Amino acid sequence: MNNPRQLSGQNLAAALRASRARTWALVDDLSDAQWLPSQQRGVNPIAWELAHLAWFAEFWILRGPHGRDARGFAHAALPPQFIGPDTIFDSAQFAHGQRWVEKMPSRAQLRDMMANQLEACIASIPNEENFHNSKERDEAHYFHRLALFHEDMHGEAFCWLRAALAYPAPAHLTIPTVAVNKPISVLGGTFGFGFKSKDEGFAFDNELPSFSATVSDFEIDSAPVSARQFAQFVDAGGYGNANFWPSQAGEWRAQYGLNHPQRWRRNSSGEWEMRWFDRWVALADAMPVIHVNAFEAQAYCLWAKRRLPSAREWEFAASSCAEFQWGRSVWEWTTDAFDGYPGFEPGPYREYSQPWFGNHRELRGGAFATDARMHDVRYRNFFEPHRNDVFTGFRTVAL
Ligand SMILES: [Fe+2]
Repeated sequence: MNNPRQLSGQNLAAALRASRARTWALVDDLSDAQWLPSQQRGVNPIAWELAHLAWFAEFWILRGPHGRDARGFAHAALPPQFIGPDTIFDSAQFAHGQRWVEKMPSRAQLRDMMANQLEACIASIPNEENFHNSKERDEAHYFHRLALFHEDMHGEAFCWLRAALAYPAPAHLTIPTVAVNKPISVLGGTFGFGFKSKDEGFAFDNELPSFSATVSDFEIDSAPVSARQFAQFVDAGGYGNANFWPSQAGEWRAQYGLNHPQRWRRNSSGEWEMRWFDRWVALADAMPVIHVNAFEAQAYCLWAKRRLPSAREWEFAASSCAEFQWGRSVWEWTTDAFDGYPGFEPGPYREYSQPWFGNHRELRGGAFATDARMHDVRYRNFFEPHRNDVFTGFRTVAL
């Protein structure tokens, strides 16, 4: 695969088309009723989300130069040609609740609008011969690449939606597997984190600036915790032991009164099953635990006398240990609150990272529903610690 951060020309056009084809494949088999379920947290109406991702690409790729309006929202010099208005399709401006009330374009209308938007965006991909160096090339491709990754992220969000609403799994999506876990002893050292100045291609604002830091020796799991390992914690009464649920975790546990992960149940023989989209499946040996939040991950660690890795430990191990297996399974919780690297400056799409500093938790890796393009050891995902509707798991580190 071409380096996804450095896509240009025909390869970038092909990636934009592939991402759009995936977007449609994730929603087009659903009925009109499934497109508009009753309102719930963490779920957007499908028509709004489709229009939003196409609006986003048009806004950033075709409508510049950009600035900020008097209210602080992103502003584009040119008016929308395909999808607007900005007040409805900019997620920063249009609250979640409103998305359920506003009348949205029909499926057929969306198909037309989005096809026209995509072709115009592809037609505007810069000509390869225009650049003297990689910096110029990267600057000229910034918004095409940003829009591509943004659409990939919404593709994953459509998968969460289908899982949350117990719709059938998208075609070709299978239950992930993880290898048998073998602890890895990592020798510490000084390492450059984030997107380095010698790295070429697209960087998310939160990967910049790169910095150097020292990591001590540590021992880390080679693979995410399996569902069967997690079941041992559940069966040991881990959800009922207040020692494993300090402060915020305890509040979450009390609110939901769970004795096991929310998407688990026991079958008639007393064995654990996990809900995988619209069906229940028995826990299998190689299955990672999925849909656990940061509190559940921490509780397991307290029970197992282990801890979660820091984001730095994760990146260091993923970058330097061949045995470290990651990606295509689950997003992995870390101990870190999501925050900017020292000297952080927001990118043009200022709403991507900065509003979530401090109140979200950092995750690393990549899930079975995450497009391969998004997998990168430098990539920092972030969710609120209580989220268990997303494709999250974790691995542990020795105390
Ligand atoms: Fe978005």
